[in-house]
Amino acid sequence: MSEGLFFPVIETKRLTLRPLAADDSESLLDIFSSPEVMKYWNTAPWSGIQDALDFINVSNESMLSEESLVLGVYLKSTGELVGKCMLFNHDKESKRAEVGFGLGQHYWGKGYINEAGEALIQYGFNALGLRRIEAEIDPDNHASAKALEKLGFTLEGVLRQRWEVNGVVSDSALYGRLISDPSSNSLA
Ligand SMILES: CC(C)(COP(=O)(O)OP(=O)(O)OC[C@H]1O[C@@H](n2cnc3c(N)ncnc32)[C@H](O)[C@@H]1OP(=O)(O)O)[C@@H](O)C(=O)NCCC(=O)NCCS
Repeated sequence: MSEGLFFPVIETKRLTLRPLAADDSESLLDIFSSPEVMKYWNTAPWSGIQDALDFINVSNESMLSEESLVLGVYLKSTGELVGKCMLFNHDKESKRAEVGFGLGQHYWGKGYINEAGEALIQYGFNALGLRRIEAEIDPDNHASAKALEKLGFTLEGVLRQRWEVNGVVSDSALYGRLISDPSSNSLA
């Protein structure tokens, strides 16, 4: 597998997905310092620019080692960074990875994850050779559950009381999509 495969530029109708750069750190911090955006994450909202720079550095290292594919999501019309999407926990032998998304609150509900997510998933299946993509979410995260269902994921199970973050215990809902599953999405 060539290194370039983990540093792609992917175009959709309204969006460009590409690796994050240090220049994106202010915009990333704006998005991921929001308690609303981070409500269902298992980490606290980011508190300073170093969090953003560390995220970009760790992402680039994990892409070099082919463990993850972390892409910024940019509006084609303005060049604005609206969020990030990623395939992580890549298991090359089992041809599987986990998917994750996060958009700035201002950009929710515009179908961007439907569009970016399908493009990322198709890249995972067709370019990276994945057979299975999975997602783990808090069952109370209805926006994420709906977005995954629209992207053709199936709810495969619930793991009870899997997390405890700052004393709050929560379940995990596990979703999966196989390359052989029918695609329900025509946007990407
Ligand atoms: C989850 C998230 C990525 C969804 O992105 P999005 O671009 O707003 O999603 P889309 O606009 O593509 O919407 C997909 C579907 O979910 C629905 N949806 C969006 N927000 C919703 C909400 N709060 N409650 C219920 N459904 C919702 C949309 O209506 C759409 O369905 P429809 O086409 O039938 O109307 C976004 O809300 C987000 O970044 N949340 C914070 C971070 C997060 O929790 N990430 C998940 C961890 S993996």
